[in-house]
Amino acid sequence: MGDNGKVCFIGGGPGDPELLTLKAKRIIDSADVIIYADSLVHPSVCDGAKEGAQIIGSKTLTLDEITDLMISAACEGKLVARVQSGDPSIYGAVLEQMRLLEAAGVEYEVIPGVSAAFAAAAVLKTEFTVPEVSQTVIFTRLEGRVAMPSGEKLRDLAGHGCTLVLFLSITRINKVVSELKAGAYDDDTPVAVVYRVGWHDEMIITGTLGDIAPKVKRAGITLQALVLVGAAFDPDIRRIEEAGTAASSHLYSSDYTHLYRRAVDFAKSHATHQVASDA
Ligand SMILES: C[S@@+](CC[C@H](N)C(=O)[O-])C[C@H]1O[C@@H](n2cnc3c(N)ncnc32)[C@H](O)[C@@H]1O
Repeated sequence: MGDNGKVCFIGGGPGDPELLTLKAKRIIDSADVIIYADSLVHPSVCDGAKEGAQIIGSKTLTLDEITDLMISAACEGKLVARVQSGDPSIYGAVLEQMRLLEAAGVEYEVIPGVSAAFAAAAVLKTEFTVPEVSQTVIFTRLEGRVAMPSGEKLRDLAGHGCTLVLFLSITRINKVVSELKAGAYDDDTPVAVVYRVGWHDEMIITGTLGDIAPKVKRAGITLQALVLVGAAFDPDIRRIEEAGTAASSHLYSSDYTHLYRRAVDFAKSHATHQVASDA
């Protein structure tokens, strides 16, 4: 391999180019070759590309075509930015690319990005983990052409009743609803569907498991959307009257002592907890 040739897998974020990390931007802007997932990554992520950089959309390419491009450029000593949607670690199909780079002896690194899941939580103005409501988030999908491993079918996971974020499943929203209702969720469970978060045509639909499917059909959403399920997506979750005092984290509570702060009134405090070190 030529000197300094390298591939950087880059989390391109959900669409809004301002959600690229500074590191991602720096590497994209200095890359000799940019191969970006043009189905879900906004072309403006390449706006700062250096003069003469080769810019290639990957949506019509096969795995072999993409890796051949990356390997030959890296072998010529070039820097390749492989820009994926969201964060590469979630349904990013990066492992198969990495295997081929390893086999070819090409150096690579991964720059994380903002997953569409996190951008969706931001536009919905909520938190996936809410004390006493849900402390667990499952990122998953409905079984499709890719079979789910044992124990990971949606109806198995639905038994947990926690926050669920479904990728790659919107096309079969009716099936999503019936699988979830076979578990711990019912018609009243809050659901949000976020279409193309961060793009100019972003759409947010909120409802419940009982009414989300017809709402999605009416909106004509058939792809590029997340389905977010659980009490964390109840529009009332931010209303102080609904939450009372119970559903707040101990972390900033004035009567709670932890590693970095003593309770305002120590007598009222519980035993010392080291929650802050986990924050
Ligand atoms: C191949 S997966 C890639 C996920 C990506 N790695 C991430 O972290 O967001 C593609 C799926 O992610 C979701 N997705 C990706 N970008 C999205 C966006 N801007 N808005 C809503 N959903 C998005 C959709 O469910 C889409 O079908």
